[in-house]
Amino acid sequence: MEFKDKIVLVTGAGSGIGKVAAIAFAKEGATVIIVDIDEKGGIATLNELKQIGAEGYFQKVNVASFEEQEKMLQGIIKHFGRLDIALNNAGISGPFVRTVDISLKQWDQVIAVNASSVFYGMKLQIQQMLKQGGGIILNTASIAGLRGLPNSLAYTASKHAVVGMTKTAAMEYARKNIRINAICPVFTVTKLFNPDMLEKVAPGIPEKLKKNIPMKRFADPVEVVNAMLWLCSEKASFVTGQAMAVDGGVTA
Ligand SMILES: NC(=O)c1ccc[n+]([C@@H]2O[C@H](COP(=O)([O-])OP(=O)(O)OC[C@H]3O[C@@H](n4cnc5c(N)ncnc54)[C@H](O)[C@@H]3O)[C@@H](O)[C@H]2O)c1
Repeated sequence: MEFKDKIVLVTGAGSGIGKVAAIAFAKEGATVIIVDIDEKGGIATLNELKQIGAEGYFQKVNVASFEEQEKMLQGIIKHFGRLDIALNNAGISGPFVRTVDISLKQWDQVIAVNASSVFYGMKLQIQQMLKQGGGIILNTASIAGLRGLPNSLAYTASKHAVVGMTKTAAMEYARKNIRINAICPVFTVTKLFNPDMLEKVAPGIPEKLKKNIPMKRFADPVEVVNAMLWLCSEKASFVTGQAMAVDGGVTA
């Protein structure tokens, strides 16, 4: 029960990595606030928490809106009085096209959902963590935050921004008992990265992507979440400002 009685916020918890994380933290004793723009997905995660007898709440929030995130955090503080751990995890892939073919609207959307949301979240969460004397923030970046990824320029820009914000904020608040890290997964099989669907639009690409990973396979969300649990645990008490790759060796 590593996270017994901890108040843990997980954005994008209606699917994929966020869903697996919400369930894993709940199994370790946390009260989990499930946040997602997708009501159906969020409620499904909540139902899974209830089935294992865990404590959880669902909030429908668009993380790309500062006002919505602010209202959500105010609600958490009013109800629980604190926020121990925040996982800023919600994200979208954006278009899989060459740079010249990305529309301005697509660019703005990817930056808003993947990068601005993390700034909004951290701005609000750090304010609260300063008041309560500490906390832990974990942002979901990607290997696309550590290296280039052809056909994903907007996504790559957004994830490099997440890594840069993570490192900077970690340095700023290291003395205030706030640890801030990022997790950088390689392709992980979820709704966002579905190799079968990708094969249909870009035949041969999933196999090519897999071949470039030294372990020759994609990640399972559980493997990403295991690293997340460690980064948020006491075992990582001296770890801050890191962008940890969980990538089968691809960035080695
Ligand atoms: N799957 C991968 O290959 C992979 C690799 C590296 C990083 N990531 C990152 O992991 C995170 C989770 O992705 P996933 O693979 O679990 O995808 P997913 O699509 O399964 O889950 C993402 C969740 O975020 C939610 N979401 C999207 N926009 C939102 C918004 N504006 N407000 C609130 N919620 C919103 C979605 O509804 C969805 O439930 C993302 O940040 C993604 O960029 C994924």
